[in-house]
Amino acid sequence: MAIFVTGATGYLGAYIVYELLAQTEERFALLVRANSLDQAKARLWKAFQLHMDADEFSQLLPRLDLYIGDITAPNLGLTNRDWTCLRDSTESIIHAAAILNRKSHQACVNVNVRGTLAVIQLARAANTHHGLRRFSLLSSVAVAGHRQDEIVTEAEAIQWDRPDYDPYGATKKLTEYLVQTLLPDISYTIFRPSTVLGDSRFGKTTQFDTARALVLLAQTGIIPLQPHWRMDIVSADFVGRAIATLHQKSQLAHTIYHLSAGEQSLTYREILTSLGRAGLFSPILQPPFEWLVQRLATTPRSWKISRLATSLKVFMPYLTFNTVFDNQRIIQELGDSPPSFRAYGANLYRFLVEHHCQFPYQLTPVPSVLASGV
Ligand SMILES: NC(=O)c1ccc[n+]([C@@H]2O[C@H](COP(=O)([O-])OP(=O)(O)OC[C@H]3O[C@@H](n4cnc5c(N)ncnc54)[C@H](OP(=O)(O)O)[C@@H]3O)[C@@H](O)[C@H]2O)c1
Repeated sequence: MAIFVTGATGYLGAYIVYELLAQTEERFALLVRANSLDQAKARLWKAFQLHMDADEFSQLLPRLDLYIGDITAPNLGLTNRDWTCLRDSTESIIHAAAILNRKSHQACVNVNVRGTLAVIQLARAANTHHGLRRFSLLSSVAVAGHRQDEIVTEAEAIQWDRPDYDPYGATKKLTEYLVQTLLPDISYTIFRPSTVLGDSRFGKTTQFDTARALVLLAQTGIIPLQPHWRMDIVSADFVGRAIATLHQKSQLAHTIYHLSAGEQSLTYREILTSLGRAGLFSPILQPPFEWLVQRLATTPRSWKISRLATSLKVFMPYLTFNTVFDNQRIIQELGDSPPSFRAYGANLYRFLVEHHCQFPYQLTPVPSVLASGV
């Protein structure tokens, strides 16, 4: 039997699998988009480079069963034989795959809603066949929709008549609804990370969207935000550890957990200080800043500013809503609080500046990795 994980080639999926590999003796079935088994291994190796070297990866490979597929394709893109094999061997499911593109309604509906439905169908079939121990869904605090100056608890985050900021938030809300409605007889857990940024143990990351915006603001030195507004940042290692630990527990007190900094969230002034930077806060510049970002987002790609501007445009509501997400449930369940950004912000900032917001991947395939069979 194996824990079936979607999204293992992604930023958080790799954290979760890495934690579970370290915490347990379990086998893992991973759904990976690829053209061949070799490419699937190479893509996984790229995702795992933040956590281990090639030798360790080669040693762990025998515990991974790789399924080449796609959650938007019929039967997850698997042959009938592979789908049946996956159903028969699935002990529990962690569904992390999603599209984080906040602009495309079509892509969000296709991957987040249709894709989740396909994974739920597998869960139902496995449950009927031999019983499924747990279904863990990675959702997001984006399900809370439009907010201003609030502390949001798990219980009151979803209000169906409240507008969403973007298709991503709207479809993540639907994925929760699908799980709650279609898996009432299965132990399910819904995890809602807030803004995941960096690792509290080392100053490295492979995810850069929010990080780029932070570096830009820190380097500009003029911050068009209120200094006392708070931003709810949580480290990726805490998120990975929390999900891996709760997924393995036999009993949980709740079905939904915010993975967030909650009341301990830092203000923008404290965040800037954590990065080791000084700056001038000018909230009066927020409207012209937003106008400029809108314009820059439509500039030709060759100007090399449109990507950053588009990210900023999309994240702007989340930067200005001054809302944090209560985390008492996860603190009680884990017996541990998330590390403060204050403790690791400077390390992360140094890495981002030194590496120009890029991870120094070892791109050459590792022979011992590609040679091992699965
Ligand atoms: N990172 C954050 O700040 C954050 C915050 C809150 C919630 N979350 C949630 O956490 C989860 C993981 O996010 P992440 O940051 O790890 O995202 P990510 O790095 O973009 O990874 C997304 C993963 O989903 C996979 N995927 C996308 N479309 C797929 C498809 N059609 N079929 C199969 N797999 C597909 C990707 O595979 P490829 O490698 O093939 O593209 C990748 O493995 C998501 O559910 C997200 O909503 C993330």
